[in-house]
Amino acid sequence: MTSPTSAPAERPAHLARVRWWRRPWVAPLMVVAAAFLAFSLPPYLSMDPGQSRVPAPDFFPPHFAVLSLHVVFGSIAMITCCLQIWPWFRARHPRAHRVIGRVYVFGGCLPSGLLGLTVGLATPFGPVTMASNVLLALLWIGCTLTGWRMARKRRFVDHRRWMVRSFALTMSIITNRLYGAVFTILLEPQLDTAFHGDPMLLGSTVSALAAWLGWVLPLLLAEWWLERGDAAKRRTRAARPAATR
Ligand code: HEM
Repeated sequence: MTSPTSAPAERPAHLARVRWWRRPWVAPLMVVAAAFLAFSLPPYLSMDPGQSRVPAPDFFPPHFAVLSLHVVFGSIAMITCCLQIWPWFRARHPRAHRVIGRVYVFGGCLPSGLLGLTVGLATPFGPVTMASNVLLALLWIGCTLTGWRMARKRRFVDHRRWMVRSFALTMSIITNRLYGAVFTILLEPQLDTAFHGDPMLLGSTVSALAAWLGWVLPLLLAEWWLERGDAAKRRTRAARPAATR
């Protein structure tokens, strides 16, 4: 554990050198997450099923309640995730990182993932979206719990890797919504041709494209990011004289 009196030299150099406001991605990420939540939360805090943006299927009456809880816990995951992924915060406040990490796992991802799995199985947007929802929920829960277990075992390199994947999946809901808007604009003009005038078919196609691309691309980006970091470390190690290794 790092104590408040630790010498700066004990902190990893790459964290100490760069000030948080010089890291170009932390502040924009928080702004985007805040904007997403400001737009997404209100209908589900209203307790009014008429405000839902997802039509409730007849066979699942608790749909709105389950969806609303999913969104509330998902918001906790998104807010805590922004803090957890922030290098400055991790380096300066290791105890807070551990506490907020537990909130992220057990007060955010786990309940939101299980509720997302439930509403995902009852989705009104068709089987292709359902498959994506179910796989995403299982991967989200799996990556997050594995990341937590790695930290418990003090395997911090693996902990970081699994939590980067978990982070990508948490934030993927934002890209999902962006793809939804883009595909609606792109495909709507083809309603009467490619979609035979059927708005349900158009809706389920847009939803399926947004659902799959929404999380597959961020997860691939996360893998590329991790691999890039590993390759850089291998190069540094190979360049170091053997005596200093
Ligand atoms: C990463 C795992 C997640 C899964 C598997 C998941 C799953 C789902 C499902 C199945 C729905 C209903 C739509 C449908 O039937 O297809 C939904 C809606 C929603 N989810 Fe998630 N979700 C996840 C993460 C999140 C996160 C982190 C948030 C952040 C707040 C969130 C916010 C929402 C919102 C706001 C809706 C309602 C739709 C809307 O108003 O646009 N989800 N989610």
